[in-house]
Amino acid sequence: MMTAREQVHITPAKGRPMLTWVGKRPLSHVTVFPAQHVETFDPVESGGEQAENETWEDWPERYPQGGLLFHGDNKEVLAHMLANGFRGKVKLIYIDPPFDSGADYVRRVRLRGATGTAQIDGEDYSLGEQIQYEDIWANDNYLQFMYERLLLLKELLAEDGSIYVHMDSHRGHQIKLVLDEVFGPASFQREIIWRIGWVSGYKTAALNWIRNHDTIFFYTKDPARFTFNKIYIPYPEGYTRRDGSKPAGRGIPLEDTWNCSEADRLDSIQIMSFSGEKIDFPTQKNENLVARIISASSNPGDIVLDCFIGSGTTAAVAQKLGRRWIGCDINKGAIQTTSKRLQTVIKEQIAGDASGINGSSENDAPQPAQLSFTVWKVNDYDLQIQHNEAIDLVCEHMGVQQVRTDSFFDGVMGRNLVKIIPFNHPLSPLDLEEIRRELDARPDEDRNITVVCLGKELAADAWVEEWNRMRRGANAANRIDIIELRTDPKYGKFIEHKPASAKVKIARNNDELYVEIEDFVSPTIVERLTRQAGILRPQIEDWRSMVDCVMIDPAYNGEDFKIALSDIPERKEDLVKGRYILPAPEHSPTIVAVKIIDMLGEEMLVTEEV
Ligand SMILES: C[S@@+](CC[C@H](N)C(=O)[O-])C[C@H]1O[C@@H](n2cnc3c(N)ncnc32)[C@H](O)[C@@H]1O
Repeated sequence: MMTAREQVHITPAKGRPMLTWVGKRPLSHVTVFPAQHVETFDPVESGGEQAENETWEDWPERYPQGGLLFHGDNKEVLAHMLANGFRGKVKLIYIDPPFDSGADYVRRVRLRGATGTAQIDGEDYSLGEQIQYEDIWANDNYLQFMYERLLLLKELLAEDGSIYVHMDSHRGHQIKLVLDEVFGPASFQREIIWRIGWVSGYKTAALNWIRNHDTIFFYTKDPARFTFNKIYIPYPEGYTRRDGSKPAGRGIPLEDTWNCSEADRLDSIQIMSFSGEKIDFPTQKNENLVARIISASSNPGDIVLDCFIGSGTTAAVAQKLGRRWIGCDINKGAIQTTSKRLQTVIKEQIAGDASGINGSSENDAPQPAQLSFTVWKVNDYDLQIQHNEAIDLVCEHMGVQQVRTDSFFDGVMGRNLVKIIPFNHPLSPLDLEEIRRELDARPDEDRNITVVCLGKELAADAWVEEWNRMRRGANAANRIDIIELRTDPKYGKFIEHKPASAKVKIARNNDELYVEIEDFVSPTIVERLTRQAGILRPQIEDWRSMVDCVMIDPAYNGEDFKIALSDIPERKEDLVKGRYILPAPEHSPTIVAVKIIDMLGEEMLVTEEV
């Protein structure tokens, strides 16, 4: 049940010039949701307190001093941050949001281990594709989405802060106008052209100039007062001036076109695939690219925010460059990937063998601002599944007849038209406005509408009530009813899925804990394999091929999982160990919690009191 909540006030946009779009609305306030602390990584047990250090003086007391990773929709996360002490504190924002590319970004999921761990007829078992995020937008929703986030981000930015917005040519020109409106045209600093690198494959097939750059818009909160550390690159070997003299002093200051190519000797941002930093995440950006932005527009100890964190590049680079960092993503897989990446970076820093940006050996990097981070959940997006999968599931289980020729409604049930709202957000008046617009465009449509959603905002009920009130008696066409699957006793049952199970032995011997995972089964993985293997039964000889990583909290408090041990095999061919010895906490008994994350990103928790 939602209750009345606190709201944060948002300063109106500066306005002029102003881009307009269908459904443009100002954002005067946003409802604030609380954040739930779900995970801690604090290997040196600072308890979230750094040594006496001015760096953290501005940090809100309610948060442990360390990196912050929020799982949730960034509109809600940013509102939460505004209401909880971060207003005006963020020195640098870098965002690489969806570009409205009209595509879904997927990753190929495979079982772990060398070929042979699980196979049929010599073929590796693949678990197929998993959508990391959807980038398909209806009408002008994309612009409203970005507008709202940019308005919130501006409030978080320090008076001398900077924002970099990564775009491509799909929407870049429009987002620049939106940035002008939100920050004021005087706050525009530079438009950076980033040459992505050598292109191959389908991109080069176009009968046109081959697209090979992204655009990064650089704005500041104050047009004149902002942090900027000029970056210089060396002159090329043998460089002489026109008069034949050798240049004195530093060298060439960086321009606003950045290269990412081996062949460009000057200003070369190393290509990612050669650098060993590549993580299995589509649209991952180079550490070098982000490092350039962080080095120029912030100083060690400053707060760097990326609310579209993806695989965690911004957080990893900020950690390596001694900045404080805050990341957010709506996709749980992105949060898991970022958490694993940051655990590795911090462990290397503690061990003193920290690799620099792009895996280079780095001796002059600043001291880390923190050696810990915490993960928080704002609202509940755990049940996010792919929209196309959701539509199939809903239709199959509710008896909806799919209508592929209708570009708006998903099918019919009895005489009703059915609209299925993507499961990654609760039904809101924004979705209902879309339905209104569609019906306006179909004046002869007399059927009623069934809206299927996972959850709904309270405001959606009020909207529908008002809509139906206007459709009584002779005007009865197009009445709307809502089926909220999360609570619906008749239709909601199918969304419960069989959780994974594990056999784990946990024992204590004086001051040591022994944890042994003897078996693990994920019904979802087995089902996916069975679907792909056809009549051949899949053989999984080693349970570890289904497991991505294992984490242990030896003193679990039932809420915040403290990662005391993590087993994250670096290469996909490697398997988790499955057997662990770790120091036992002083008190007894203690609750030991073992978190097992499978290759589809599903988590299970085994707890035992010892
Ligand atoms: C282009 S990717 C970012 C890639 C990242 N720069 C990297 O180097 O890995 C965009 C990310 O934004 C996330 N995202 C999309 N909509 C979001 C929302 N409303 N709130 C938070 N994250 C969102 C997606 O899940 C995706 O991980």
